[in-house]
Amino acid sequence: MKISVMGAGYVGLVTGATLAETGNQVTCLDILEAKITELNQGKSPIFEPGLEKLIQEGIRTGNLKGSTDIEDGIVESDLTFICVGTPSEKDGSIDLNYIKSAASSIGRALRHKEKKHTVIVKSTVVPLTTEEIVLPILVKKSGWKREQLGVGMNPEFLKEGSAVKDAQKPDRIVIGSADKLSLRVMRSLYKEYKCPKLECNPRTAEFIKYASNSFLAAKISFVNEMANMCNSWGIDFKEVAEGMGMDSRISPLFLRAGAGFGGSCFPKDVKALAAAAKSDNVESKMLKATLEVNELQPQIIVQMAEERLGVLKGKKIAILGLAFKPDTDDVRESRSEVVVKELMDKGAEVVGHDPEAMDNFKELIDVNTAPSIEETVEKADCVILMTEWKEYTKINLKMLRNRMSGNVIIDGRQAFNPEQIEKAGFDYRAIGLG
Ligand code: UDX
Repeated sequence: MKISVMGAGYVGLVTGATLAETGNQVTCLDILEAKITELNQGKSPIFEPGLEKLIQEGIRTGNLKGSTDIEDGIVESDLTFICVGTPSEKDGSIDLNYIKSAASSIGRALRHKEKKHTVIVKSTVVPLTTEEIVLPILVKKSGWKREQLGVGMNPEFLKEGSAVKDAQKPDRIVIGSADKLSLRVMRSLYKEYKCPKLECNPRTAEFIKYASNSFLAAKISFVNEMANMCNSWGIDFKEVAEGMGMDSRISPLFLRAGAGFGGSCFPKDVKALAAAAKSDNVESKMLKATLEVNELQPQIIVQMAEERLGVLKGKKIAILGLAFKPDTDDVRESRSEVVVKELMDKGAEVVGHDPEAMDNFKELIDVNTAPSIEETVEKADCVILMTEWKEYTKINLKMLRNRMSGNVIIDGRQAFNPEQIEKAGFDYRAIGLG
C-alpha cells in the first residue's frame, strides 16, 4: 500500500518504519527539514531500540523515505496516517492545533488528487475529534464529496523502549472506522497481523486509548498508595504485589511501586481525559486521585532523604536515573525532575547521571551531571535510584561503599535487593519497604 505519515515524531517514525518493513511504500512527512534529512541518511532522529536499523533497512529497500513536500507526499499515497503531537494546554486539556493543521494540509493537498483517499488518525485525541473536527476540515479544505474520503481512528499502544517490537507484534489492533472505505483499507493493511482486532467507530477507538492509559496510570497510583501504607506497617510491598499478581484478574504486570509514572503519555492523557470529561460535566474522581498520588510519590522520596540526612543544605546527593523509565532518553514528566528540583531548592548539592538522558535533562534543569556512575556517587552522602537502568541495579556495591561519604541509599523503584544492600553496610530506604 502507498502510505504517507504526517509527523515524523516518535509515533510517526515507528509506524512508518514498521509498515515499510512489511512491504508498504511509506513516506514520512514533516515540516522540520533537519529531521527529514537525518531520516533519509538512515539515522533515527530519536533514541528507540531497533528503530535506526529498521529505518536503514527501509531506506535500503526503497520502501521508506522522508519528505518535507507534504502535498506531493499526500497526493502520491492512498492512505495518510496523522501522527502529529497532541500536547496539553495550561489547564491540562488537549491542544488540537497540530491535528487541525494536519487535517487542513491533507485537505488542501487532496485538491490535487482525484478519486479516493483514506485518512486515519493515530495521534491520541479526545473522543469525537476524528468525526467532528478532522472529517469536516478534510471535506471543507479538499472540496471533495464525503463518499470519496475514508476516515478512521487507529490508536497506537506503543511503549517507549519497546516501541518497535510493540508495533511489529501488537497485543491488539483497534480499527475505528467512520465509513466502509476506511474499514476496508485498515482490514487490508493489518490482514497479516495475528493479534485480536476490534472493529468499532472512531469515537470508541479514541476512548479505548484514553481508558487504557488511564487504567494503567490508576493501577500504578493505586499500587503506590498501597506501597505507602506498607512503609508505615513494616510490610514489603514487593511480596504483596507478588501475591496480588497471582490473581489472573489483577495480573502481575504494572504492580511496581515507586516514584510514580512519567513520560509523554500517562500524565498528559490522564489530565486531558479529566479535562474533557469535566467540560462535558462528568467529574472524574478516579483520574483526579490518580494524578494526586502521582504528585505525592516524589515528595516521599525527598522526605526520606530528610529523615536520614537531616537538613539537606550542603549535602551531596547523587541521583541515578533521569529518564522517565529505562531504555529511553525521554525526560518528559520524569519524576526525577520533581525530586532534583526539590532537593536543589532545599540547598542540596545534586549530581545526576543517566546512561542516555543527561543532555535532555539538562535542558529542563541546570543540574550538575557526571560522565560515569563512579564519579556521580563520589563523596555522596546519599544515593537515590530514580530509574531502574540495568547499569544501576547491577551496581558494584563495594565500589559504591568506597566512593560514597555517607551510606544512605533511597530506592525510588524498589529495584535493589534489600538484603544485599544492607549486608554491604548501607542504610537502605525504599518506597514500599516497611
Ligand atoms: C505508556 C503505555 O504503556 C503505552 O501503552 C502507551 O501507548 C503510552 O504510554 P510508556 O509511557 O512508554 O507507555 O511507558 P510505560 O512502560 O507504560 O511506563 C510509564 C511510566 O509508568 C514510567 O514512568 C514507569 O516507570 C511507570 N511505571 C510503570 C510504574 O511506576 N510502575 C509500573 O508497574 C509500571
